[in-house]
Amino acid sequence: MNDLMDLSHRKIMITGASSGIGRAAAILASEKNASLVLCGRDEGRLNETLQMLENKERHILIPFDIRSFDSYNDVFDRAVSDGNKLSGLVHCAGIAKPLPLRMMKYSRITETIETNLSSFALLVSMYAGKKYSEGGSIVGISSVNSRLPQQYMSVYAASKAGLEAFVRSASLELCERNIRINCVVPGAVDTPMAQSTDPEQLEKIIGRQLLGLTDPSEIANVILFLLSSASSAITGAAISADGGRLGQ
Ligand SMILES: NC(=O)c1ccc[n+]([C@@H]2O[C@H](COP(=O)([O-])OP(=O)(O)OC[C@H]3O[C@@H](n4cnc5c(N)ncnc54)[C@H](OP(=O)(O)O)[C@@H]3O)[C@@H](O)[C@H]2O)c1
Repeated sequence: MNDLMDLSHRKIMITGASSGIGRAAAILASEKNASLVLCGRDEGRLNETLQMLENKERHILIPFDIRSFDSYNDVFDRAVSDGNKLSGLVHCAGIAKPLPLRMMKYSRITETIETNLSSFALLVSMYAGKKYSEGGSIVGISSVNSRLPQQYMSVYAASKAGLEAFVRSASLELCERNIRINCVVPGAVDTPMAQSTDPEQLEKIIGRQLLGLTDPSEIANVILFLLSSASSAITGAAISADGGRLGQ
């Protein structure tokens, strides 16, 4: 029977593949036969991810800092250097540093905006070039913080609301190239990012999620759906996977 979730003959770039949601997405995509380009800064942790994958020989690692925008041409050239173009991009690289208004500094604002949003816009524009892709599907990771306020997270929230708005508008241009773009909107997910949150604050958030703390593999399932042809009718959308979080 035709498996709509199968990713055979698909080459997919995953940022943030060295940890958390990106690592879980890589594991699942490899089980569905994709070839992967694993990106992150920490080569050691990217290698750990590689050891967890099916068909290890099919995947490549490209360690780089997502804020080194000048390196993107080189990164994409390396990604397609075997002659096969990309047919998927998942942007999981992100940071969620609390930033109270009294500590706001331009450099702290740009650190979050560049890592979470500017990088995504530039990755998408690179991916859309004929040299690097043949149709396919792009997935960004937003957050419930784009809609639900949380103390000290205003800049993070703005970066994620911006990502969702970017997805909606970029879908118009990308459909001309047969590329779909969507994002997932998680609540609290059990990764190093959530584990670094103040424990009391995290307990409160988990208490508001009907289904409790989300496992990264559950977000990976939604990413897989959006990458695959099972979601062929969906573009420009933000899909909630927030553990049933109904209010603040
Ligand atoms: N966990 C949650 O509760 C939650 C909830 C909602 C949304 N999200 C979103 O989900 C995404 C993934 O988060 P996660 O929970 O998986 O976090 P994580 O475990 O902390 O992983 C973050 C990833 O981002 C990469 N990264 C950070 N800064 C980078 C930079 N300058 N250059 C390259 N890579 C960079 C890290 O790679 P290196 O360390 O190797 O550089 C790491 O692989 C983020 O966008 C986050 O905002 C998470």
